[in-house]
Amino acid sequence: MKVAHPDTRIGAIATGIDVRALSDADWHALYRTWLDSIVLVIRDQTLTIEEFLAYSRRFGRLKPHRVTRTRHPDHPELTVMGVGTRKPDGKVDRAVFERGGGWHTDSPWDIEICKATQLHAIAIPSHGGDTLFASMYDAYDTLPERLRARVENLKAEHVYGGRGRRGNELLEPDDRLRPPAVHPIVRTHEETGRKSLYANPYHILRIQGVSDAESEELIAELTDHMVATTAQYRHKWQVGDIVIWDNRCALHSATGGYPIEEKRIHWRVTIMQDESE
Ligand code: OGA
Ligand code: MN
Repeated sequence: MKVAHPDTRIGAIATGIDVRALSDADWHALYRTWLDSIVLVIRDQTLTIEEFLAYSRRFGRLKPHRVTRTRHPDHPELTVMGVGTRKPDGKVDRAVFERGGGWHTDSPWDIEICKATQLHAIAIPSHGGDTLFASMYDAYDTLPERLRARVENLKAEHVYGGRGRRGNELLEPDDRLRPPAVHPIVRTHEETGRKSLYANPYHILRIQGVSDAESEELIAELTDHMVATTAQYRHKWQVGDIVIWDNRCALHSATGGYPIEEKRIHWRVTIMQDESE
């Protein structure tokens, strides 16, 4: 196994392994590399759905995504991304085509902490369609003291799609009405012990305990700071890639910009932190 680190702060690219046949030592090394690097890429895998799910379960419990219509019919824990980019009338279905666009972390609208998301690339367009990742450890570490003191003990409410409810047409009507999930803006990672910023530019609704105007102002200030972090990794996809990222300490964003007539398909799982709901 070889592991390359494009940046010391974020991103690790492993080659020369088969995730179906890892020794215990390789598995522990990979898991540690993932925790330390936030985003772990494994190249050149060819897996069945069952094999992908079995490997994903080594990281934790899989939870079927709240968006039911993109779940695999036989495997609810598997979401198939990128299918149905055109509606039956031929118009682009923007909610599907642009899914994952805009800086966010996954499932902050869930009261349970989402540990990780893992994608396996099945089809990749000839150009465009990269994914960006940004370290929220770095965002916390570089937070100006004044802002840090202001947000240290604040909590934020999150709903699917945030204030604009962007993309929430993907949800079933009843799920659009779910109450917000509340999470601290500064969180301590359960496994690394490091502090990070957890304020989702996309899914945030409001910051609790301050006025609406102050909440908007803080969200804007935090967003500017978080997306400006230089601790970023840009993933250029290849078919066969498996990419897992830590949702507790990173933002990510699909960059889009690929031709609609080309396929960009990923298998996707949501991995939870706690073993039981
Ligand atoms: C996701 C996501 C980004 C991408 O699956 O949660 O944001 O580039 N994907 O597809
Ligand atoms: Mn996402």
